Amino acid sequence: MRKIRTAVFGTGFMGKVHTEGIRRLGNVEIAGIAGSSEEKARAFADQVGVERSTGDYRTLLADKTIEAVHICTPNVLHFPMAKDSLLAGKNVLCEKPLATSVADAQTLVDLAKEKGLANCTFQNLRFYPLVQNMRRLREAGEFGDILAVQGTYSQDWLLYDTDWNWRIEKSSNGPSRTFADIGTHWCDMVEHVTGLRIAELCADLQTFHKTRKKPKGSVETFTGKTLQPEDYTEVPIDTEDFGAVLLRLGDRARGALTVSQISAGRKNRLFIEIYGTKGSAAWDQEKPDELWLGHRNEPNQIVVKDPSLMQDAAKSYADLPGGHSEGYDDTFKQVFRRFYKSVEDRKAPVEYPQFVDGLRQLQILDKVLESTSKHAWVTV
Ligand SMILES: NC(=O)c1ccc[n+]([C@@H]2O[C@H](COP(=O)([O-])OP(=O)(O)OC[C@H]3O[C@@H](n4cnc5c(N)ncnc54)[C@H](O)[C@@H]3O)[C@@H](O)[C@H]2O)c1
Repeated sequence: MRKIRTAVFGTGFMGKVHTEGIRRLGNVEIAGIAGSSEEKARAFADQVGVERSTGDYRTLLADKTIEAVHICTPNVLHFPMAKDSLLAGKNVLCEKPLATSVADAQTLVDLAKEKGLANCTFQNLRFYPLVQNMRRLREAGEFGDILAVQGTYSQDWLLYDTDWNWRIEKSSNGPSRTFADIGTHWCDMVEHVTGLRIAELCADLQTFHKTRKKPKGSVETFTGKTLQPEDYTEVPIDTEDFGAVLLRLGDRARGALTVSQISAGRKNRLFIEIYGTKGSAAWDQEKPDELWLGHRNEPNQIVVKDPSLMQDAAKSYADLPGGHSEGYDDTFKQVFRRFYKSVEDRKAPVEYPQFVDGLRQLQILDKVLESTSKHAWVTV
């Protein structure tokens, strides 16, 4: 079997989950790890058992035997890393958001096309088996015409002004925090499942903590809670903690979304509800193996994930039989499997979100920021 050699850039939360996910495939080997310094990269590579490490990702791009890269670094590094990787002839799987501006995302879409390379924006949350089942039920007409969508993506890990992460600062994160970080996942999912495009929106972003206490050392994702409240610098904050967005989708559907990183007790609640002329569906990422189906004239149902009972077109997104849960981790394997099929055979059908899908999310985000500053409805 041909082994595809790949590299992982970034040694934090996503670096680890990507490394584990790649290894579940069998036909892909990790040829190198790039970190923010030689020391950090080496420590991570030792932890995950990878021989080669570097503090400069460009040394891995110079290796002709490496065919693909995974970009798992803070958002502002996505554009330069993805661009350099495409120019070096690598297939690129980039974490979301694809870039921090529409213009940069468009450059990456164009460059990937020009180079004929596989390109993926990692909107992995659409790959939960029951999200795919919901999409296929909608395609089969089970919900009728979609009238309304609503939901939230809520977390609590940045509730306190002592909570800190690179996402809080525009210099590492880009102009939006909560919407860019998690709102884009919700919008990607709602467009994917309903087949409708967000056409207009009215957004209200809010920064509750006008200042935060910034620790003097660096902090990786979800680790801030263990820090003691000492050695902080008080800094002004200009990225949002919360957002509420009204939506118009397609010709007539309406919707509403909240995004939050300050909702105590909500750890990672992506909740999506779809209401159509015949029926409804609702799904919650914190209970990923259950899909609620709502009916007007018969009892509602809770469908438990079981590939043998899912829509045919959704079955390949579940690997385990009913009663054996599949969660967040498994979405990585599902995307990677499809991405590397494309790397292996550039003519294979593309069954994963591409850079163009990342560009789409940045276009929506741009309009969310515009609407907030204008206090007005805007067209996407
Ligand atoms: N798809 C998802 O479900 C999901 C979940 C979390 C994060 N993300 C995305 O993944 C990306 C990384 O987020 P994270 O939560 O892993 O952050 P993190 O802070 O845990 O990790 C970022 C890593 O990048 C490293 N880094 C910084 N500069 C670097 C450089 N020049 N070269 C190589 N490495 C460098 C840091 O040292 C750190 O290890 C973000 O863009 C985020 O939006 C996606």
